[in-house]
Amino acid sequence: MGKVMLEVKNLKTKYVTRLREDVYAVDGVSLKIEEGKSLGVAGESGCGKSTLALSLMGYYFPPLHYMSGDIIVDGKNISGMKPDDVRRNVLGTEIAYIPQAAMNALNPTQKIIRFIEDVIHVHDPGMSKKDVYDLAKERFGILGLPEEVLQKHAVELSGGMKQRTVIAISTILSPKVLIADEPSSALDVTSQKMVIKMMRDLMDKGYIKSMIFITHELPLLYNVTDDIMVMYAGQIVEKGSAREMVFDPLHPYTKGLMGSIIVPEEGVRENKLTAIPGTPPNLKHPPKGCRFADRCKYATPTCSGMEVPTIEMPNGREYRCLMSERKIREVYENE
Ligand SMILES: Nc1ncnc2c1ncn2[C@@H]1O[C@H](COP(=O)(O)OP(=O)(O)OP(=O)(O)O)[C@@H](O)[C@H]1O
Ligand SMILES: [Mg+2]
Repeated sequence: MGKVMLEVKNLKTKYVTRLREDVYAVDGVSLKIEEGKSLGVAGESGCGKSTLALSLMGYYFPPLHYMSGDIIVDGKNISGMKPDDVRRNVLGTEIAYIPQAAMNALNPTQKIIRFIEDVIHVHDPGMSKKDVYDLAKERFGILGLPEEVLQKHAVELSGGMKQRTVIAISTILSPKVLIADEPSSALDVTSQKMVIKMMRDLMDKGYIKSMIFITHELPLLYNVTDDIMVMYAGQIVEKGSAREMVFDPLHPYTKGLMGSIIVPEEGVRENKLTAIPGTPPNLKHPPKGCRFADRCKYATPTCSGMEVPTIEMPNGREYRCLMSERKIREVYENE
């Protein structure tokens, strides 16, 4: 087993709304990522993916609040750190974050090189302009971006270039964990593939040590990440290798998310499900028992009546369902 870069134990965080209502958006998430590995996080809109990303950085500002659990980056527990400590000692170096729609948030009046200077100077105020420039030039080269981009403004760049620029800026300090929230969903298919490949290259070359890739499209993750975790209503419902999750989903929600997909070497899958009927529960009052029960066609009254345990399999795979693996396979086979 490789060195563990990120370990999260039973993390719980919530939003407190202006009306003082609690929204339990991350409700007991545990995960582990080893050096050189990537984890994909998938799930429908509102299931807590972006909140998980924000929570993992340990950078809490209202309305988001930390409740309990551990976030351990390369052996160092960062949960409970003060925001100022997190900004100085965690962001950029331990964990880097590319927010959803980041490429549209670049300040249009600032040259690209200035963003890089800003990031570097938080950690190394004494670094000379020339050293910053040389470092930026090297990284931009790896991402296939010409040196001239450093002197440009964001509005002068195409979508794909902008997204690569955002990746270069975010990873300039060689973080141990890169969390990218929907880094490719605003792009056309060609740019999407390019961006994904670049992130992989950065990891293969050792500039980032591990990666979390968030998307609502589960099939997209198949070619990109080693493992996949599916979230539903703030919890993990299933986790496993990308191949297992895509071709052999156990949890009915994962199976539903797979819908009808195309995987290059395997052809079109026969499953015709494209959307799962119904909507996710309100996270202000999460239902008792299995949170997916009211949308699950295999649910029985027991599912809503008791806490559903997570079943851990010997190969590290896990799923949260009352049905046994055998029962699940039997049910799917008879469809
Ligand atoms: N600032 C906020 N205040 C209160 N509730 C919030 C806030 N931001 C998000 N939420 C709620 O937290 C839950 C999780 O939202 P989150 O944005 O993490 O989902 P997501 O999986 O990233 O969705 P998407 O795929 O649309 O990006 C949702 O129920 C959402 O309504
Ligand atoms: Mg989101």
